[in-house]
Amino acid sequence: MSQEADTFGPDPREAEMLLRNVAPTDIDAYVAMRCDPVMMAELGGPQPREGIDPKVAKDVADAEADVSWIKMIVLDETRPREVAGTVTLWRNHHGDDFFSEIGWMVLPGHQGRGIGKRAVAALLADARADGRWGLVHAFPGVTNAPSNGICRSLGFELLGVEEIEFAGRLFTSNHWVVDTGSG
Ligand SMILES: CC(C)(COP(=O)(O)OP(=O)(O)OC[C@H]1O[C@@H](n2cnc3c(N)ncnc32)[C@H](O)[C@@H]1OP(=O)(O)O)[C@@H](O)C(=O)NCCC(=O)NCCS
Repeated sequence: MSQEADTFGPDPREAEMLLRNVAPTDIDAYVAMRCDPVMMAELGGPQPREGIDPKVAKDVADAEADVSWIKMIVLDETRPREVAGTVTLWRNHHGDDFFSEIGWMVLPGHQGRGIGKRAVAALLADARADGRWGLVHAFPGVTNAPSNGICRSLGFELLGVEEIEFAGRLFTSNHWVVDTGSG
């Protein structure tokens, strides 16, 4: 093994990636992602800590019921509780208009290494194989360069700019869509 591989481990672009369902033990990962002002800068600001336990409980229930796909990104299968981020596919609605939406987060120590893009590509591949999700929409903030990069490079089509709500806050986002078939 080379000195470089020894020191830094396998290149994350080549390594296996596990997407596993969210679990009750993921509260710390949710806090690190959702209560951090830098992580939430493009998502309307940090969320209150007191909302996290009920949010994890609801997400665990929705994932177990297969209502939503709420996946934690794991880079080392032997340490499944160590989370690099999350990617989620769910049914959202504007009034009576229901649609599939995908969202993602990668923790700061893992950003800029292709992990977000690979996780989104993997979940979209699963969605295509599953066939229930149809057109999948994404709404990254207009200034969120890596998230818009993920959409652009994974074949999403840009429909325009919209005011959208995330966790009760409004912000200006690009509206992207990709077709995963059926739906
Ligand atoms: C957005 C986020 C998920 C990106 O994850 P990531 O693993 O760092 O992104 P990747 O390394 O897979 O890069 C994705 C694309 O963006 C590009 N990119 C990455 N960082 C970038 C940056 N700072 N500026 C411009 N482009 C960037 C990459 O080159 C890649 O595009 P390419 O395939 O054309 O080369 C991560 O930064 C994050 O969680 N941010 C905070 C929360 C958030 O904004 N969530 C998304 C809400 S929609």
